[in-house]
Amino acid sequence: MSIKTIDPATVSQPVLHHYLLSAVAPRPICFASTISATGEVNLSPFSFFNVFSSNPPILVFSPARSGRDSSTKHTHDNVLEVGEVVINIVNHDIVEQMSLSSTAYNKGVNEFVKAGLTQVPSEKVQPPRVGEAPIAMECTVDQVIPLGDGPGAGNLVIARVVLMHIQEQYLTDGRLDTVKLDLVGRMGGMWYTRCTPDSLFSIPKPLAKKGIGFDQLPKLIKESAVLTGNELARLANVEQIPAYTNLLWQDDPAYQELSKGEASVEDYHRLAQRWIGELRIDDAWGLLMHHT
Ligand SMILES: Cc1cc2nc3c(=O)[nH]c(=O)nc-3n(C[C@H](O)[C@H](O)[C@H](O)COP(=O)(O)O)c2cc1C
Repeated sequence: MSIKTIDPATVSQPVLHHYLLSAVAPRPICFASTISATGEVNLSPFSFFNVFSSNPPILVFSPARSGRDSSTKHTHDNVLEVGEVVINIVNHDIVEQMSLSSTAYNKGVNEFVKAGLTQVPSEKVQPPRVGEAPIAMECTVDQVIPLGDGPGAGNLVIARVVLMHIQEQYLTDGRLDTVKLDLVGRMGGMWYTRCTPDSLFSIPKPLAKKGIGFDQLPKLIKESAVLTGNELARLANVEQIPAYTNLLWQDDPAYQELSKGEASVEDYHRLAQRWIGELRIDDAWGLLMHHT
């Protein structure tokens, strides 16, 4: 395996920007509504964004200096003038309007108007929220930390949620429904990702459970020519290697078929692989312990 190694000090800012943003992805999108001291409303997207704490409820995002002339973004200037922001969440229904709003319009131009989005008055802060957004969070700004002063330098905005609005249609039994939300994320370059049912998967991990870990996997299973790291991780997620009083898996027709002929260890591992995929973890363990 050949590796390209990059020392940030030896590459230009745009090149490093490309590597960092393509590597750290997908990123959620903060659609930030702010207001200047003279009352001019601004709306811009930022994918240097995340939730950092739920108690207190803290969101962070970073309007960076321009890579061309190091100028600061209007959003940055606004949060320094009026320390409030509404962070709207972007789903697929508004992704193109969000992108349009990222145009470098002159200061004072209201991107709600440019992007055709609805300005809904906030309750606790001055900037309005995006009526079309599935979720909007009214925030006060705790701190703005400059991370540099050259081209591309970020400014870490630490924002505290003071009120959250959720469109009821995205709730199922009172909880936010990931499938209904249809969220989007920013990748490197022009790429975005969309959280459709096809692209979603879950990893069963009961909080109470402590998996045995890779180091406790029997050597011949760990060194299987068939099983992948993901599949071994599912095996290593059991609290203990299951005891084999239950041999019902031996009645499985696929196993019966294999054991009739001259099956190799790999053949058995491939069947175990299928069972791991079907979350039949105990059955896969039974098969592997018998045929490794
Ligand atoms: C999806 C998306 C994500 C973006 N993320 C960032 C970001 O995290 N930081 C940044 O400085 N600019 C980001 N931009 C570019 C800004 O949105 C753009 O510079 C915008 O014009 C800033 O507006 P303002 O000067 O009105 O604040 C992003 C653009 C898009 C479309």
